[in-house]
Amino acid sequence: MDDSKQKLGGVSQKLWGGRFAEKTAASVEAFTASIHYDARLYRHDIAGSRAHAKMLAKQGLIRSEECEQILAGLSEIEQEIDEGRFTFRTELEDIHMNIEKALVEKIGSAGERLHTARSRNDQVALDIRLYLREESERLRDLLKNLQRAFVDLAKQYQTTIMPGYTHLQRAQPVLVAHHLLAYAEMFGRDRQRLADGLVRINVMPLGSAALAGTGLPIDREFVAQELGFPAVSNNSMDTVADRDFAIEFLSTCTIIQIHLSRLSEELVLWASEEFSFINLADSFCTGSSIMPQKKNPDIPELIRGKSGRVTGNLMSLITLVKGLPMTYNRDLQEDKEPIFDSVDTVSQSVAIMTELLANLQFNTDKLKQATIGGYMTATDLADYLVKKDVPFRQAHAIVGRAVAYGLEQGKELVEMSLTELQQFAEGIDEDIFEVLSVEGSVNSRTSQGGTSGQTVAAALEKMEKELN
Ligand code: ARG
Repeated sequence: MDDSKQKLGGVSQKLWGGRFAEKTAASVEAFTASIHYDARLYRHDIAGSRAHAKMLAKQGLIRSEECEQILAGLSEIEQEIDEGRFTFRTELEDIHMNIEKALVEKIGSAGERLHTARSRNDQVALDIRLYLREESERLRDLLKNLQRAFVDLAKQYQTTIMPGYTHLQRAQPVLVAHHLLAYAEMFGRDRQRLADGLVRINVMPLGSAALAGTGLPIDREFVAQELGFPAVSNNSMDTVADRDFAIEFLSTCTIIQIHLSRLSEELVLWASEEFSFINLADSFCTGSSIMPQKKNPDIPELIRGKSGRVTGNLMSLITLVKGLPMTYNRDLQEDKEPIFDSVDTVSQSVAIMTELLANLQFNTDKLKQATIGGYMTATDLADYLVKKDVPFRQAHAIVGRAVAYGLEQGKELVEMSLTELQQFAEGIDEDIFEVLSVEGSVNSRTSQGGTSGQTVAAALEKMEKELN
């Protein structure tokens, strides 16, 4: 071990130990440490340190040989961590000090120069931004795959009709493809939301130092370029105190998980005996330990359940930041676990849902059967009368009476004879039967964004293009 170790710290051998006369209590070390979770940021921390060291050398704040030593040392450390050969030490609190201490132990005094013009406060802000930048992109790719899965499924069932619901009551017939593309739209917006958030994540914080900036002649633009940031933060105090980019990210995660949860709810319903709209592959279901007949939709159930923790993570971070005075406060260390947990939960959920969709089959017979009852083409009859110049409110009342009659007689509208229908309004002709058919109803809905075969085919094509 070289002599630099002696110069670092006081009795405690901590990187900050100079002013301390007593060793930190073990309980305090355990309580304040974050290394057991922030070790995850090692690659980002090292990337930041590389850029920082190069900048220091360029500015003459360290010698170029020292920079070379630092870069070599950091690469060794990175490899050791990659390969699981690095020992993380709780007494060194966090990832920043674990790496810095290891560097000093490896290369001596050059390592002690790395923290020049830097604080852990801007360092941790950098690490989280680099991490979220990477994860936002990864999540965007996962969402794209999920959208593709919807498109594939929609193409498979492009002409299949199912009941569309409001209030979970059969409302109007729609194409299965239209229903599926509704989800593809939601996840498309989520992908956009992540891209929007990236604009604010992708800002370089280093150089803000502890809170006030530094008097040393640094070059922040250079560091930004090294790390691929299009912008440098404006205000050093804001920079070390700000976590709203992370709140935004967690809020997008929450919206994604809520979208997944709605979808899961439908899948659970559809897989039930009562609906029997879909079959989930055996490989994507589990059984019961007591009821031999059961095949349970655990994946959508768990995804739905996990929306609790993802929403909770957002609440944690919002609450965490709420009462904090400027600027950095140690409370902010509590930002990481909710962030990591949401990243893990949401990306796993998106990925497994994508797989599940690829292993799902619609029960087209059941769907067809379900479109028959429920007077789902009643609006079509009203629209038919509107075309015959009947004011819509009157048409609505007329069709209401026809439905009441049907309920009494146990007949769907389409099952009534022309004379039966004609008793409710004038001007009803033979062509009404096409209008009252499920296929006729669906195909009449050619308004932009509607469910007709033609509009859905165009929507599919547009979505496919966007995903390529
Ligand atoms: N582990 C700390 C965190 O996650 C790093 C910053 C600590 N800064 C400080 N002045 N104690 O926030």
